[in-house]
Amino acid sequence: MAVVFSLSQCNSNGGDKGDKCCNDTKCCQNSGDKCNNNSQCCQTSDNQVIKAIMERRSIRKYKDTPVEHEKLATIVKCGINAPSGINKQPWEIRVVESQELINQVNEVYKKANPDIMEKDPSFKNMFRNAPNLICVATAQGGNLDCGLLGENMMLAAQSMGLGTCCLGGPVRFIKDNADAKFFLEKLGFSEGYDLIYILAIGYPDESPDAKPRDESKVKYIK
Ligand SMILES: Cc1cc2nc3c(=O)[nH]c(=O)nc-3n(C[C@H](O)[C@H](O)[C@H](O)COP(=O)(O)O)c2cc1C
Repeated sequence: MAVVFSLSQCNSNGGDKGDKCCNDTKCCQNSGDKCNNNSQCCQTSDNQVIKAIMERRSIRKYKDTPVEHEKLATIVKCGINAPSGINKQPWEIRVVESQELINQVNEVYKKANPDIMEKDPSFKNMFRNAPNLICVATAQGGNLDCGLLGENMMLAAQSMGLGTCCLGGPVRFIKDNADAKFFLEKLGFSEGYDLIYILAIGYPDESPDAKPRDESKVKYIK
């Protein structure tokens, strides 16, 4: 069955005659496109990889239910099957399934941000409220490889009905706050490995629209 994915960047295009219009001002560019419930223009594809890529969004609201261990293991396996320069695999990964550890480091965050609950009534934890974390560290020079690892994991999660959000903010907080040092110690990365991002992961409790993408950054040289 053809899958439908939203391409919000279509929204601002005025439609030519024959285009399908999602509302008075927003029209699709391509014939065969569909409109979703939010009057966004959508393309269709039968390709499950394209579906996962186009439907993935950063999720910042999660159900409390932790992700099953087997699913986390599959996702990490997909991650480490990403390409890396001369197959160096310059990463270490720590999957946090301990709710206690997440709560402990979150207490440090709450102490440093005492008005967080007033500012954000939906706040549960500093990891965009996710019940599980995948922490990625790299040896020097491995950032590109770790980026590929991360996208593999996010797409695998997406295809399994899970949501993710790549997080840099909490990494900075954890590194800068002396009270959060225990968290890094608990992760126990090897000497020379530096935590570079944390993937929040869990069952999504929101379905945000796609953010616009700037197609003008792409040029085809023929
Ligand atoms: C390296 C990196 C760091 C990020 N850090 C954060 C973060 O600290 N907090 C957050 O809410 N989102 C973070 N994001 C998510 C981006 O905001 C998000 O990917 C972007 O807005 C595009 O939205 P989309 O993922 O829904 O397509 C980060 C993404 C990347 C790739």
